[in-house]
Amino acid sequence: MSGASIEFRRVSKAFGDRRVLREVSLEIRAGETCVLLGPSGCGKTTLLRLVNRLEEADSGEVLFAGREVARWDPVALRRRIGYAIQSVGLFPHLPVRANVELVPRLLGWTRERRRARAIEMLRLVGLDPEDVGRRKPHQLSGGQRQRVGVARALAADPEALLLDEPFGAVDPIARGRLQSEFRSLSRRLGMTVLFVTHDVREAFRLADRIAVVAEGVIQQVAPPAKLRSAPASGIVEALVRGAETEPAP
Ligand SMILES: Nc1ncnc2c1ncn2[C@@H]1O[C@H](COP(=O)(O)OP(=O)(O)O)[C@@H](O)[C@H]1O
Ligand SMILES: [Mg+2]
Repeated sequence: MSGASIEFRRVSKAFGDRRVLREVSLEIRAGETCVLLGPSGCGKTTLLRLVNRLEEADSGEVLFAGREVARWDPVALRRRIGYAIQSVGLFPHLPVRANVELVPRLLGWTRERRRARAIEMLRLVGLDPEDVGRRKPHQLSGGQRQRVGVARALAADPEALLLDEPFGAVDPIARGRLQSEFRSLSRRLGMTVLFVTHDVREAFRLADRIAVVAEGVIQQVAPPAKLRSAPASGIVEALVRGAETEPAP
């Protein structure tokens, strides 16, 4: 399946009297990898969770495939959008392959089709379906678990992927490898990706465009090179400069 667009139109969201998002507008094109980059607590996760309706906006609109998410059945919506988070959330009692087959099973795919898909996805993320596929999650390394999380998010052939710091718990070397593999994978699959990180290097490695979020608003949306050459605000400039002076991992 190919990618579907995601759009935020003047979206606001508060928790109690804390205004987290203020009239945020952003359009993620079909097939594009857009990275939401910003400091911890700036509202990235909230923005992401508005797409699959784990949060509801106070005002404004969120659209998936051109249709307001409020008008989608949440279950149908979530089956068309892969979602992976840092803590991964694999079912500990199920072997890896069964974890990857979960959404296809909910979708009523035949056992054979599910099996084949799980094997294909595990290979795609660089895991051996015969070995790793039979293990329980606790028998994997952190990096392997996060690969399984991505394989599971991809399993039902979604039109969009929401990834919330999916490589956050991995050591720097494995992380670099995961990032470059993910980059070639997302390009090959033509899927729309909305990727959250507070890691500037990661954003620069993965993004077609980066949306810098700070203080409840999007400071700038631009391809990585443009962000460097023409930062739109002091906040963006400081962020980019910080990444350049950081020592390599
Ligand atoms: N369910 C919630 N209830 C109350 N406050 C929340 C909730 N979710 C997030 N927040 C607050 O909203 C702000 C943004 O959170 P979040 O979107 O998780 O930021 P980020 O992902 O950029 O670190 C933070 O101050 C956080 O404490
Ligand atoms: Mg977050």
